[in-house]
Amino acid sequence: MRAFVSRLHGLSGKPVVLKNHLVCLSLSIISRMVFGKKHFSVSGDDQLGSNSIMSLPEFQEIVDEVLLLNRVLNIGDWIPWPDFLDLQGYVKRMKALKKKLDRFHDHVFDQHKRKKKELAKNFVPQDMVDLLLQLADDPDLDFKLTYDHLRGLTLDLIAGGTDTAAVEEKDIPHLPYLDAIMKETMRKHPVTSLLPPHLAMENCEVAEYDIQKGTRVFVNLWSIGRDPSLWEQPEEFRPERFLGRNIDVKGRSFELLPFGAGRRMCPGYNLGLKMDQLSIANLLQAFNWKLPDNTKVEDLSMEEASGLTTPRKFPLVAVMEPRLPLHLYKI
Ligand code: HEM
Repeated sequence: MRAFVSRLHGLSGKPVVLKNHLVCLSLSIISRMVFGKKHFSVSGDDQLGSNSIMSLPEFQEIVDEVLLLNRVLNIGDWIPWPDFLDLQGYVKRMKALKKKLDRFHDHVFDQHKRKKKELAKNFVPQDMVDLLLQLADDPDLDFKLTYDHLRGLTLDLIAGGTDTAAVEEKDIPHLPYLDAIMKETMRKHPVTSLLPPHLAMENCEVAEYDIQKGTRVFVNLWSIGRDPSLWEQPEEFRPERFLGRNIDVKGRSFELLPFGAGRRMCPGYNLGLKMDQLSIANLLQAFNWKLPDNTKVEDLSMEEASGLTTPRKFPLVAVMEPRLPLHLYKI
């Protein structure tokens, strides 16, 4: 986090597309947790270290392609006869992407297995791949984990975790207004407007509706967040509405479900929340923010792009001014 704030400090006074820096921050945190430290160099210009296979920006391109191909509508999936023509070229792109990902995964798995062999009895799992490889070798496990499972699981975690004097984790519980800002942001702009489809496993009744077993259920977070019967003046951004109210984001308060609810609820919610809270807190503490000279507040578009997730249609460009003593930006 300090390195992130320090890097931004170098851009003070210039218009900055904030999203690019935040995406890079979350990707570097998540990829470290999943794959370990040494597989990426930080920028495209860095010399790749002996263990790194690509730069972080290159990996970001791969993750962007995964997210894009996940949300496209492939004609052949709906009208099978022209499928072999691959009219939109998506299948070709998926195959090319798989090749790149396989090369990357093989490299990462080999490195982890080599380290485990070298350390023998002293080996302690340090990241998600270490743990998954251990499970894949476990003969007592009821369910056999294959390398394809490992590829899928690690990719899910990376894709799910990236489409967030430093403020530290221990400070967060003492920042109730920050908590309210997070909730209000997730109410008005949920990361995904429709939850992925869920399936009713048995007949049930929800809010006086009879839902039959086998029904595919789409939960519309966007409209729940703007429902005037639940929220006073829902179009207004007013974090204060959450102060002193017992509404959480952990799937128990049905009026606010940014991470879903139930068994398919987001497994990364705790990490996602912490990353967002820490980055926002640090950005607000370290800098004063304004719009570039040529942009007026009323010109700022809050439109959202459609897709699997709903980022801003036009990324925010802002100008930072340091507000702390200079030595606090050094790492
Ligand atoms: C602020 C950050 C995040 C938000 C708002 C978010 C939101 C969501 C939502 C709404 C779902 C669908 C839940 C449902 O179907 O009911 C989901 C699923 C998922 N998320 Fe997240 N997420 C975030 C961060 C993360 C992180 C950091 C990770 C991984 C480290 C992650 C991994 C996943 C995975 C693997 C699933 C699929 C779960 C399943 O289908 O069983 N997410 N997320």
